[in-house]
Amino acid sequence: MIKKAVLPVAGLGTRFLPATKGIPKEMLPIVDKPLLQYAVEEAIGIGVEEIIFITSPEKYAIKRHFETDEDLPKRLVKSGKSDLVQKVNPEIFSKVNFHYVIQDEQKGLGHAILQAEKYIEDESFAVLLPDDLFISNKSCLSQLIDIHKDTSSSVIAVNKVDKEDIHRYGVIKPGKINGNSIEIEDIVEKPNPEEAPSDIAVCGRYILSSSIFEHIKSTNFDKTGEIQITDAIRSLLNEEKIYAATYDGDKFDCGSKKGFVHATISLALRDKSIKEDIVNIIKDIV
Ligand code: UTP
Repeated sequence: MIKKAVLPVAGLGTRFLPATKGIPKEMLPIVDKPLLQYAVEEAIGIGVEEIIFITSPEKYAIKRHFETDEDLPKRLVKSGKSDLVQKVNPEIFSKVNFHYVIQDEQKGLGHAILQAEKYIEDESFAVLLPDDLFISNKSCLSQLIDIHKDTSSSVIAVNKVDKEDIHRYGVIKPGKINGNSIEIEDIVEKPNPEEAPSDIAVCGRYILSSSIFEHIKSTNFDKTGEIQITDAIRSLLNEEKIYAATYDGDKFDCGSKKGFVHATISLALRDKSIKEDIVNIIKDIV
């Protein structure tokens, strides 16, 4: 069982400036819920009990959001809005422990994940990048868990991407394929389209074995000054088998404006209370 999840949220969110000057990117709402809460709910959904945020000092809004609020529920009850109390302090939050670890400098995803080392023992753990929003009947992490249960190995979520976008992702060289499970032969970070080993790209959910930490430590900074988790995974491949899980469902890259707006429209259309109005608004506009 996977009991711990690491959520790196220390990034600068430069693509969303000026919104991210005062509000962490991960706290921007998709309809009425912060992006980060979708990922936290996904982690709790597979039985995670410890959530480790890798964060930065100015992102206090994140801690505030996941702490129990004593005052607001009282005010809501007083004003006859008791039904909203559950939205302020969801019961599922009380089932987990939240930890906050500061990443002093934004030195990349590998470096961010390394900050969680003291919380992870000799066990596999989940990593969720909250910018990637996954909406599916069976959650993306559950799909990874199925393969992890069969193999006891690290498992990474993947999906196919267009050739012109391949340079933005970690890309795998696939080996043996068994249903939605792919044995990874090699993995490269942001390849040129002509050098890419496939069109199968890594997306933001991982189950990693704790040996990854030693490999992150021996990974060099790249030319942009970051430690890439893809490079550490490549190094881990020399010692352990690693599998990819072909994700089945909708995925939104909410770290980009296009993906963020797409997710907002798509989730608004799934919200029964506003669906009809949104359809009419879209019809009016187009
Ligand atoms: P991104 O690279 O998409 O986020 O990292 P960013 O750097 O904040 O965004 P832009 O490019 O400037 O707009 C994916 C996830 O990893 C976290 C981010 O917070 C985001 O949730 N991250 C990234 C860290 O925690 N630390 C880092 O050093 C880099």
